Amino acid sequence: MVHRVLLHLICGVLACLSVSLVKAEDPYRYYTWTVTYGTITPLGVPQQVILINGQFPGPRLDVVTNDNIILNLINKLDQPFLLTWNGIKQRKNSWQDGVLGTNCPIPPNSNYTYKFQTKDQIGTFMYFPSTLMHRAAGGFGGLNIYARPRIPVPYPDPAGDFTLLIGDWYKINHKTLHQSLDLGSHLPFPDAVLINGQIHSSFSGDQGKTYMFRISNVGLLISFNFRIQGHKMKLVEVEGSHTVQNFYDSLDVHVGQSVAVLVTLDQPPKDYYIVASTRFSRRVLTTTAVLHYDKSHNPVSGPLPAGPTYQIHWSMKQARTFRWNLTANAARPNPQGSFHYGKITPSRTIVLANSAPLINGKQRYAVNRVSYINADTPLKLADYFNIPGIFSLNSIESLPTDGPAFLATSVMAASLHEFIEIVFQNNEKTMQSWHVDGYDFWVIGYGRGEWAPANRKSYNLVDALTRHTAQVYPNSWTTILVSLDNQGMWNLRSAMWERQYLGQQFYLRVWTPDHSLYNEYDIPSNALICGKAKGRHT
Ligand SMILES: *[C@@H]1O[C@H](CO)[C@@H](O)[C@H](O)[C@H]1NC(C)=O
Ligand SMILES: *[C@@H]1O[C@H](CO)[C@@H](O)[C@H](O)[C@H]1NC(C)=O
Repeated sequence: MVHRVLLHLICGVLACLSVSLVKAEDPYRYYTWTVTYGTITPLGVPQQVILINGQFPGPRLDVVTNDNIILNLINKLDQPFLLTWNGIKQRKNSWQDGVLGTNCPIPPNSNYTYKFQTKDQIGTFMYFPSTLMHRAAGGFGGLNIYARPRIPVPYPDPAGDFTLLIGDWYKINHKTLHQSLDLGSHLPFPDAVLINGQIHSSFSGDQGKTYMFRISNVGLLISFNFRIQGHKMKLVEVEGSHTVQNFYDSLDVHVGQSVAVLVTLDQPPKDYYIVASTRFSRRVLTTTAVLHYDKSHNPVSGPLPAGPTYQIHWSMKQARTFRWNLTANAARPNPQGSFHYGKITPSRTIVLANSAPLINGKQRYAVNRVSYINADTPLKLADYFNIPGIFSLNSIESLPTDGPAFLATSVMAASLHEFIEIVFQNNEKTMQSWHVDGYDFWVIGYGRGEWAPANRKSYNLVDALTRHTAQVYPNSWTTILVSLDNQGMWNLRSAMWERQYLGQQFYLRVWTPDHSLYNEYDIPSNALICGKAKGRHT
């Protein structure tokens, strides 16, 4: 606390000069992060990874709702680099989203200072590189937003708070991975699953006390199931939603998702296995960590707790039990349930079908037949400077159509304050995980086969939770409702990085003709300029 106040005093003046868009009364937090290569040996062979300030995974960003983050990112890699803040809503501020449609990548030996506010959110999030396949080499970290002092959270303060970044991992260098994708191949099957960059992590606590485990899937491809030997997990938060607090023996976490559970150390003092094992994958990769009771002298023993053997049905059923606690508040004092999303009639329905076409003989991925390719100029800059020929609105249909897939820089137009229904239709045999930048959304239904309007009867229109990443099961659909209250150029993408990299993404341009700082902030004065915007001034 003292250290925060001090920072605020030292930096307050500076900040007022340079940041006019963030509210002065909210605290400022300053960071300088340097991105370098380093060598670690998580799987017995030394390999090149991406470090932030010398750390792998990167530093944990622990902030409070409404904090102003001023983060200078210095790129010492040999390739352009960007971080994106997964699930941070960036209200009115897609300028800071850190994806290639909104930001020029930071060139080697150069820097960019992100300025954003963690507005109206409490919960478990993460950041990771959005450029090339950098995410396969690290550069990711936890981003936890804590409640402001006067905002209650619906659970007692835990005795400790653990962040677990879990994901599939390759020994292969990230450059080799993106080069092989460029040549038209698939990613190979991963070599392992790491927990916080290791295969031997350990978490300790006192018997009788309760700890929070914040679990995120930072992997590239594969869902995992998470469980702790002999312990039940009480689900309390999912990507900023406070949930009905059910107990679970194990939880499925899909690529790009985060959940927070409370675990009471209510067993005899010894060490217990923590297990993450892949789901819906050709082979099952399993990694363990240790839950250590402080008074324990007994190492882990016994068989690993078994994961679910049923696949889709089990997982879909579990997903439907993740619900909003309607009387609990989130980042605001009023209860989450006071927003009656189920009573609003959507203005339209968008159906997004993923596919895995070959285009020019190369493996690509597409949404409604369009396989996204990055423009040389960020779409946000093209929009701001009125540079023609970078993208066109409606370059992607809002319903699936028949015909061959093609490459394009696809942008879908939407009006500010529309309330829309989006159906993710997965006619492939693999899991999907979809993410929308700038928003959270209600996940109101999961079902098998081809979605039809009659499926609306099965929607949860009462206590579905909001989140930023939704899974879609093989040959199934998932429906979300989104309130488009955040103007900007927002990336809608597969959270699975091979698919994202090879085209399963597009941008949603949420816009209104009224030019107003009330709806959207202006271009930041330090915005990097590249592509056809070169030579223009902010
Ligand atoms: C790079 O860092 C310097 C301070 O070290 C800062 O003044 C400058 O604004 C940063 N550049 C960008 C584009 O943010
Ligand atoms: C919902 O939240 C309220 C308010 O914090 C709490 O008292 C209640 O126990 C919670 N209910 C469930 C089912 O989690």
